Amino acid sequence: MARFYVTTPIYYVNDVPHIGHAYTTVAADTVARWRRLRGDDVMFLTGTDEHGQKVLRAAEKKGLTPQQHADDTHIRYKQLWERLGITHDHFLRTTDAAHQAFVQAQLQKLHDAGELYTAEYSGWYSTSAERFWAEEELVDGKCPDSGQPVEWITEKNWFFKMGAYQERLLAHIAANPDCIQPELRRNEVLGYLKKPLGDLCISRPKARMSWGIPLPFDPDYVTYVWFDALSNYLSALQGGREAFWPADYHIIGKDILTFHTVYWFSMLFAMGFEPPKRVYAHGWWMVEGQKMSKSLGNVVSPHMLVDSYGADAVRYFLLREIPFGGDGDFAHQAFLVRYNADLANDLGNLGHRVLATMLPRWMGGVVPESGPATDADLALAAVAKRATEGFDTNLSALQFRQALESLWELVRAGNKYVDSEEPWALNKRGDTARLGAVLRNVLEVWRIVGSHLACLWPTKSGEMLAKLGLTEPDLTPTLDRLVAGSPVSAGDPLFPRLLELPPAIQAALEAARAAAPPPEPKPKKTFKADKAAPAPSLENPVSTDPAAAPLAAPAAPAAPAAPAAPALIEYDDFAKVQLRTGKIVKAERHPKADRLLILQVDVGEPEPRQIVAGIAATHTPESLVGQSIVVVVNLKPAKLRGEISNGMLLAAGDSAALLSAGADVPPGTGIK
Ligand code: MSP
Repeated sequence: MARFYVTTPIYYVNDVPHIGHAYTTVAADTVARWRRLRGDDVMFLTGTDEHGQKVLRAAEKKGLTPQQHADDTHIRYKQLWERLGITHDHFLRTTDAAHQAFVQAQLQKLHDAGELYTAEYSGWYSTSAERFWAEEELVDGKCPDSGQPVEWITEKNWFFKMGAYQERLLAHIAANPDCIQPELRRNEVLGYLKKPLGDLCISRPKARMSWGIPLPFDPDYVTYVWFDALSNYLSALQGGREAFWPADYHIIGKDILTFHTVYWFSMLFAMGFEPPKRVYAHGWWMVEGQKMSKSLGNVVSPHMLVDSYGADAVRYFLLREIPFGGDGDFAHQAFLVRYNADLANDLGNLGHRVLATMLPRWMGGVVPESGPATDADLALAAVAKRATEGFDTNLSALQFRQALESLWELVRAGNKYVDSEEPWALNKRGDTARLGAVLRNVLEVWRIVGSHLACLWPTKSGEMLAKLGLTEPDLTPTLDRLVAGSPVSAGDPLFPRLLELPPAIQAALEAARAAAPPPEPKPKKTFKADKAAPAPSLENPVSTDPAAAPLAAPAAPAAPAAPAAPALIEYDDFAKVQLRTGKIVKAERHPKADRLLILQVDVGEPEPRQIVAGIAATHTPESLVGQSIVVVVNLKPAKLRGEISNGMLLAAGDSAALLSAGADVPPGTGIK
C-alpha cells in the first residue's frame, strides 16, 4: 500500500479563520480523501502555530496566560474544519508537549554537531511585526507593516549556519525540479538563491519575548517561531508514523514559500532528513483586488458561506473557481452563478430528470436492465473513461480546477445523451428495452460522478449514491456496475436553485456597504509575495551584499491601466455563460407592461422556465409558441414588473429576430 503524506501550514491562533485558510485546508483534505479512495495509506496533518509575540500580547490584553489564550482560540480552526468536513489524521498544536520535546531534541542535535553559533546583531526592531527591518525598508522611519515606531536594538542571538547549505539546496532543486511547484515559485526560489544565503537566527532573548520553546542549551533564549513551526511536519510523525517522511506535499500559500523551501530544506539537511518531495504554493484569494483584512472590513467568513450554501458547495466553489497556483478574486455573485450553473443546473438536471420523473413513471423506480450498446452508448462510455482519467491525473497533481472540469465534461455528456437519445420518444414508441438501457446508462454516469466526488463532498456524494441504493463509492468508469432491479429514489434535490443571494449574505453586504467610507478611488493594494523575502534582517545578518535583495518578482503586479479598446475576455469568461436551446411552449402579454411578453420555455428541465422578454412590439404571443430559440440559462433571475424572469432569450437587432439552433435540435441542448 503506497504511503501518502500531505500537510497544510499550521495557522496562527490569533487570526480569525477566513476563506484563505479554508482554501488550503479544503485542498489538502480533497487530495487526502482522494488518495484514501485510491487505497493509499494516508497521513493528513494540520494544526495551529501558537508561540510568538502576537499571541503573548493578545493574551496579556485579555488578562490570560498565552497558553490559556491559545487553548481558547485554536478551537476556531477545529470547529471550522469540522463544519467543512476536514478529515485530518492529526491536529498538531505547537504547544503540545511532544512537539516541544522534538524541537528541543533537534536543536540540541544541531548544537552538538556545531551547526549553531552565537553572534551579536543590531537592527531596527518592530515589536508589532515581531521582526527586524533594514533601514531602507522603513516607511517614514516606521515599521512598513504596522506603521508603528521601531527601536534600534543590539542583541546577542543564536544562529544556524544556513548559508553553508546554499550549494546543496541548488543541487537538490536542480536534481528534483518538481520539489517546488508551480514552476513560477521554483523560479522565485532560484532567484532568491542567486544572492549569498545568510545564516538564520533561531533564537529570541527571553527578556524580550518569552513565549516560545526554551533553547535546551541556553536558558536565556526561546526558539524562533518559524524554526518551531516548520518542525511540526516532522514532529507529528513521532510515535510510529516516521515512515511517512518525506512528505508528498506541503501545501502552502505563496507568502510562506521561502520559509518552506530555503529555511526548511536547509534545516532538514542539517538535521539529517530528506527534504519533502513537493512543496506546492497556491495563490491568494483577494476581494475586489485587495488583500482580505480586518481593517478593510472585507474578510469573507467561511461560516457564512457554509450557513448559506452548505459545506459541499463551498468546497466546490473554492477549488473550481480559480486555478490552484494563481490568485483569484472572491465575489458573491460569482459564487451564486457557479452554484446555479454547475450544481443546480448541470448536475441537478442529470439526476432529477431521470430519477424524479422518468424512472418512477416509466420503469417502476428501479435500475433497468442494460441493452446492446449503441454508438451513442459507446461514446458516453468513452467520455466516462476520459473524464475519470483526467480527474485522477489532475487531482494527483493538485490541479483541482482541471479535475472538476474534467468530471463535469461527463456530467454534460450525460445531459446531452438524454437529449439525443430522447427517452420520452422511446417511451411514446413503447421501446421499453432501449428506454431502460438509456436510463440505466444515465444512472451509471450518476454513480461515476457521485463516487469521484466522494473526495470533495463530505455529504452530497453520499446523497448521490444513496439515491441509487449504494453505500460506498464505486470508481469503476464503465457503464455496467449497477444491479438491475434495485430500487432508486429521487429524494430532495442536491442543490436547489437559488433565485438570489441568500439572505445572510445580502445582509452582510448591506452592512458592509453601510459601514464603508465614502467612495474615494483607492489605489489597489499589493502585498508581499513572501513574508520571508525581505532579507537582509536578523534572519539573514551575514548578507550585506546589495545583490541580496528581496525576492525577484513581486507577486501581485500593479493594476494595469484601463484598456482603451473594448475589453477582450478570456475563454473562461465566455464559458460562464451557459446557452441552451429552448422551445417556447406558452406566450402571453405581461399584464402590467406593454413591451413585455411572458414566455414559458422548455429548456430540457422537468418544468418549463418562465422568461420575460421585451419583444411585444415585434412579436405576437401566438407567433411565438412552438418556436425554437437560444436561451441564457444561468443568468441571475430577476423580477420584471412583478414577474420572475428566469433566463434570457437571444434576439438580433431592432426587429428582435429570435436566434435559433434549428427546430431539429431538441430543447435543453447545450450550445458551445
Ligand atoms: N503560521 C504560519 C505558517 C507556519 S507553517 C509551518 C502562517 N500562518 S497564517 O495563518 O498566517 O497563514 C496560513 C496560510 O493561510 C498560509 O499558507 C497563507 O498563505 C494562507 N492564507 C492566508 N490568507 C490567504 C488568502 N487570502 N488566500 C489564500 N490563502 C491565504 O503563515
